Amino acid sequence: MVDLEKIISLCKRRGFIFQGSDQYGGLQGTWDYGPLGVELKNNVKRAWWRRVVYERDDMEGLDCAILMNRLVFKYSGHEDTFSDPMVDCRKCKKRFRADQVDPNEKCPEGDKHDLTEPRPFNLMFKTTCGPVADDNNAAYLRPETAQGIFINFKNVLDSTNRKLPFGIAQIGKSYRNEITPRNFIFRVREFEQMEIEFFVKPGTDEEWHRKWVESRYNWYTELGIKPENLRKYEQKKEELAHYAKATVDLLYRFFPEREDENKQFDEVEGIANRTDFDLTCHTKGGKLVLADGREIPNLHAVTKLTYFDHETNQHLLPYVVEPSAGVDRATLAFLMDSYFEETVNDGQRIVLRLHPELAPIKVAVLPLKKNHEGIRNTAMAIKNNLMKKSGWRTVYDDTAGIGKLYRRQDEIGTPFCVTVDFDTLDDQSVTVRDRDTMAQERVKIDALQEYLAGKLGNC
Ligand code: GAP
Repeated sequence: MVDLEKIISLCKRRGFIFQGSDQYGGLQGTWDYGPLGVELKNNVKRAWWRRVVYERDDMEGLDCAILMNRLVFKYSGHEDTFSDPMVDCRKCKKRFRADQVDPNEKCPEGDKHDLTEPRPFNLMFKTTCGPVADDNNAAYLRPETAQGIFINFKNVLDSTNRKLPFGIAQIGKSYRNEITPRNFIFRVREFEQMEIEFFVKPGTDEEWHRKWVESRYNWYTELGIKPENLRKYEQKKEELAHYAKATVDLLYRFFPEREDENKQFDEVEGIANRTDFDLTCHTKGGKLVLADGREIPNLHAVTKLTYFDHETNQHLLPYVVEPSAGVDRATLAFLMDSYFEETVNDGQRIVLRLHPELAPIKVAVLPLKKNHEGIRNTAMAIKNNLMKKSGWRTVYDDTAGIGKLYRRQDEIGTPFCVTVDFDTLDDQSVTVRDRDTMAQERVKIDALQEYLAGKLGNC
């Protein structure tokens, strides 16, 4: 299986992902998605949205502001507890996340590190809103999209007349001042999440939790992730966040080079049963209960986040099941899982066997001879026509010989190449080449769109 190094190199070479602020030496923990990366990431998000919003009858969407009132994070518990343990080396002055540094590791200043005791480091990015930069105007960049959903629960409920169970989905940027961002786009300071808060009646939460774990696992495998590279990990009681009744993490084999197989896997998504913790924190008159038992009464919320149950004629606080995925980690998993190096007749090829729904480019139209006006114009016309009628991202490329053009498209995961040659001008047919099998088929131009639609499916 491919390791991160090869993926990083492919991503830079072919324009998927670049180091953030590269021109000025970079900014640690930030990455920019290039021409192909933005297409791939958009496709991942679109595939998720289609599956969890459009294809269900019990979901709504939402898009909240990234800048949020600090009270949101006072009452969510983030101000008090959203921190990682940090240590400093007294010799080399470097900072580490306590659980990510080996105290026996060699220090650049000689011998081993001399580490301080761990102390909490809050991961939220703080800023100020408006022209006066004082603490009264402090705000946070959200560290998760989830809180925006909780505080809008009543707005969505009242405006849609939903009945329990129903969920709210959101995709968007989140920010965490990670102490040690690392492993390419796996752990970064600015990333995107795809989160669902699914509101249910208490008592039905465990069943819904199980259903969501299955549904989310299947999403990855149906989009091409091999089951041997995706695991479900049920957190043990002592690992659970204090508010969670149960959490199942979906772990992907991001680090195949590690010797210990268990260490090869890390989280791409977590599915938590959060009970009524969050709505209790944010509801008018509610309270935040911290892990150490301290209680912080909510003195600021303006609305009760309750649901009126017509069956029992009572107001209740729904329980919440939360499938929370990272867009960047999912994108990385799809890239890694689709990467193959193969020996073919004329040498080596790298091929990304991306699911067609995720492939950045669906069809490449290639002229066999770029200097031939008839061939070139026909190829251009096919490309424009396909793009316009189908909406697929279709490209034209004549910058190399046909063999090289095929290899380039293989390497970026384009499922089909359409070649226009001399015969095309006589028989109005083109050659369609399949990325995975490399099989070629002659197809009439008139029938091309229907032929490709049959193969590309839901793109
Ligand atoms: N609302 C729950 C929540 O945010 P989380 O486990 O902290 O839970 C959910 O984050 C997902 O977001 C993770 O499974 C991961 O895919 C992604 N994620 C979290 N921190 C990240 C980071 N620093 N860089 C990239 N992705 C991250």
